[in-house]
Amino acid sequence: MAEIKIPLCVPDIGEEEIKAVEEVLRSGWLAHGPKTKKFEEEFAKYIGVKHAISLNSCTSALQLAVFANNIKEEIILPSFTFAASANSIVTQGAKPIFCDVEYNTCNIDVEKIKELITDKTQAIMPVHYAGQSCDMKAIMEIAEDKNLVVIEDSAESIGGTFKLNNEDRKTGSFSNGCFSFYPTKNMTTGEGGMLTTNDDVLANKFKALKAHGVESSTFEREKQEKPWLRAATFAGFNFRLCDINSVLGLMQLRKLDQMNNSRREHANYLNQNLKHEKIDLPVENSECKHVYQMYTIKLAKEINRSEFLKRLREKGIGASVHFDPPVHTQPYYQNLGWKKGDFPITEDISERIVTLPMFPQLTREQLDHMINCTQETLNSF
Ligand SMILES: Cc1ncc(COP(=O)(O)O)c(C=O)c1O
Repeated sequence: MAEIKIPLCVPDIGEEEIKAVEEVLRSGWLAHGPKTKKFEEEFAKYIGVKHAISLNSCTSALQLAVFANNIKEEIILPSFTFAASANSIVTQGAKPIFCDVEYNTCNIDVEKIKELITDKTQAIMPVHYAGQSCDMKAIMEIAEDKNLVVIEDSAESIGGTFKLNNEDRKTGSFSNGCFSFYPTKNMTTGEGGMLTTNDDVLANKFKALKAHGVESSTFEREKQEKPWLRAATFAGFNFRLCDINSVLGLMQLRKLDQMNNSRREHANYLNQNLKHEKIDLPVENSECKHVYQMYTIKLAKEINRSEFLKRLREKGIGASVHFDPPVHTQPYYQNLGWKKGDFPITEDISERIVTLPMFPQLTREQLDHMINCTQETLNSF
């Protein structure tokens, strides 16, 4: 096994985060408490929405969005995503309808969405791949026209924007926004997620459903006359984020723009210096601010990707692949009737994509080393 000198990603955890977590541990209030409330308030403000509901993962956010919107029939989503997007549809009793993506951004192809709409379509689930927004203008227009719910899988884009009517809107602010705080993401809480909305009724439903169907938290009940009373208005789940994770999220959120700016600087440097005839570099759309949760390149067809990855990893570069196989060809989904050949662009990208290391703390020296190793490896074919 090669020794990896530059890992795929390293979370940016500083002394501030360690100190804040220690304070929560010493406070005695570990769950459902003031830090969670504060994290939700600051996150909602950052995204530019009325409500943010903290959860234990993005998968829980996606599940809750499907469940609380009463979706039982078809949801259109890309197959070029992590299995969690489609799994959360199936586990809530609805049906995933896969759609192909565009080559440049790897995001859902809006023209193809239109072709897939039937009288059973209830929602669209765009996935903002690797830190870049989908075409939210076109998606919101389709949704409005056909009366569909939009559930944004913004796991890979925290802080990314899309320009709508001359305003830079954050991904996840258009309808039901689902975010992940897994350690590989733009910010982390270890495990964790958030669900955002501007809809007051839905927000209350999300809050109750994430905590056993009870509409007030322990912290909120403390201010009530009879804080010991707890009644379920829904048959809910336990999808809560605890205060230890929340305080980590709060500290990370406060430096998110700084971390995303570092990612963007690294990506610009790579874009300028990694050019090679055998690869396609990531493309940033003019309406978007890309926050490079991942930095992905596409290899020319003649390069054997497994061999490329092996050679690059032998040089200590922790390169990987996101995503292969595409969801529609994974065993569970093949059993539902999807098959290889259904989505030519998705399948082509899946075979050629490579994820290079990307995290805020990368140094110029490390970036230069990555560039040299990648070019040497490309030249070896
Ligand atoms: C597109 C996408 N959706 C959903 C998820 C699931 O996120 P979580 O691990 O927080 O449940 C991920 C995380 O890897 C993802 O990349």
